[in-house]
Amino acid sequence: MKSALAYHNVSARYRKEDPAVIKRISLDIAPGERVALLGLNGSGKTTLLYSAVGLVPFDGDISVCNVPLSKATERQIRDSIGFLFGIPDDQILFPSVLDDIAFTLERRGIARDEARQNVLPVMEMLGIEKLASHSPHRLSHGQMQRVALAGALVANPPLLLLDEPSAALDPVGKEEIAGLLVSQKAAMLIATHDIDFARRVCNRFIVLANGIVTEDFADPDRAARYWCQQAKVKNSAKQYAPATALLHDEC
Ligand SMILES: Nc1ncnc2c1ncn2[C@@H]1O[C@H](COP(=O)(O)OP(=O)(O)OP(=O)(O)O)[C@@H](O)[C@H]1O
Ligand SMILES: [Mg+2]
Repeated sequence: MKSALAYHNVSARYRKEDPAVIKRISLDIAPGERVALLGLNGSGKTTLLYSAVGLVPFDGDISVCNVPLSKATERQIRDSIGFLFGIPDDQILFPSVLDDIAFTLERRGIARDEARQNVLPVMEMLGIEKLASHSPHRLSHGQMQRVALAGALVANPPLLLLDEPSAALDPVGKEEIAGLLVSQKAAMLIATHDIDFARRVCNRFIVLANGIVTEDFADPDRAARYWCQQAKVKNSAKQYAPATALLHDEC
């Protein structure tokens, strides 16, 4: 069976002596499927994304486009993923916006001039073509997030792992980026707290709580009601209401 991303019994921890942050997760994402990864702060969303590119040590099996992740395949797997970090600063390396985005193509073996030409359409799609010669570190957070997203999309990877892509965007930007993501053929796993954005983009909604997948919804209305209900659960940010206790009121 074709799969874009598969976790089988995956646990991950940052240091050997630490307890697991994600615990025996099994999850399969089909080619083209767009999956929202919901969960409260500290539930393990970013860690789950990091594990798929080998940024945190893990036990169990992860495969990307049916290629098992190991030290030997890590480079190949990273080339098949467009990754957006939650803090876009973390992935911006070059002094100009154009060079930064073009580098994604250069590291895949495309010559510099060709790479610089090939990034222009994605920059236009993201409305950052006028920023080409700017220093990425002198942009607003939202502009920087668009630059980082351009880097994730430019090579047309079959899988996108996006950590809070709407976090710094204004309402116009959110709608633009949502439309852009929906138009992509890639499978995606999107860590987010933004249920409206998730509903606009995704066709599947997974909830992580304390490093465990607790819910997996196909129905956006059920997912939204469940997610909004969490804000009303008293006493503990770690306490999840069961899906069966969904209320009919919206946020
Ligand atoms: N670099 C790190 N070293 C050690 N522990 C870490 C590190 N990064 C995260 N953790 C721990 O892993 C757990 C899960 O963190 P993670 O960043 O995956 O959560 P998250 O769901 O992405 O949260 P948020 O919604 O705040 O982004 C937290 O308890 C956190 O303290
Ligand atoms: Mg996070």
